Amino acid sequence: MDFSKFVQIQLTSDTEIKAFKCVEDDLNAFLFDDAKHFQKELMAVTFLIEDLQEDVTVAYFSLLADKITFNSEEKSVWNRLNRNIPNPKRRRNYPAVKIGRLAVNEIYAGKGVGTFVLDSIKYAFTTAKRLGCRFLTVDALKTASLFYKKNGFEFFTDLDKDEDTRLMFYDLKNFCV
Ligand SMILES: CC(C)(COP(=O)(O)OP(=O)(O)OC[C@H]1O[C@@H](n2cnc3c(N)ncnc32)[C@H](O)[C@@H]1OP(=O)(O)O)[C@@H](O)C(=O)NCCC(=O)NCCS
Repeated sequence: MDFSKFVQIQLTSDTEIKAFKCVEDDLNAFLFDDAKHFQKELMAVTFLIEDLQEDVTVAYFSLLADKITFNSEEKSVWNRLNRNIPNPKRRRNYPAVKIGRLAVNEIYAGKGVGTFVLDSIKYAFTTAKRLGCRFLTVDALKTASLFYKKNGFEFFTDLDKDEDTRLMFYDLKNFCV
C-alpha cells in the first residue's frame, strides 16, 4: 500500500467528511453524527486519513486523555507493567492517551492501514513528544483485539474477558528504542 498518497487532517466544525464505511455501524455513526460534538465539548479530538487520489476517508481515529491506575486485584499486571519503569519513577497512576475510536474504510481493510494509523499515533506521543504520556489504551472490540495484539497491545485484566470490549494497553517506551 502506498501511504504517501494519504494525508492526515484534524476534524474541525467546518470539515466536510468524505465517504466512509466500515463493518461496525456504531463507528460509522460516530464519525458522521458525534465526532464534531465530542470535539466541541473537548471530550475527544478526531483525525481523518484521506486519500489524495480518491474522494474518500481512508480511516479515522479519536483520542482523549486517560490514565492507567493501580488495581489491587491485578497486581501481576501491575508488576509486569512496572518492570519497565525505573524504581524512582514508579507511581500508582500513569499518564495515558485513549484511542476512543479507530476504524478503517472497508475498501482499505486488511492492507496495513490500521497498523499505519497506530504507528502514527505512537510516533506522535514518542518521537514528536506531543504530550507526556507513557501508555496508549483502548477499549478494544473483541473482534479487533487480535489486531491490537499484533500491534503490541496487551490485555490489562482477565476480569473483562467475557465483555464485548476489553481494556488493552501499549507501553510507548517500546516504540522509543
Ligand atoms: C480493526 C481494523 C482497525 C484493522 O485495520 P486494518 O487496516 O484492516 O489492519 P491491518 O491491515 O493493519 O492488520 C494488521 C494485522 O492485524 C490483523 N487483523 C486486522 N484486523 C483484524 C481483525 N478484526 N481480527 C483479527 N486480526 C486482524 C491482520 O490480519 C494483520 O495481521 P498480519 O500482520 O499477521 O498480516 C479495521 O479492520 C476496522 O476498522 N474494523 C472495523 C472497526 C473496528 O473494529 N475498529 C476497532 C475498534 S476498537
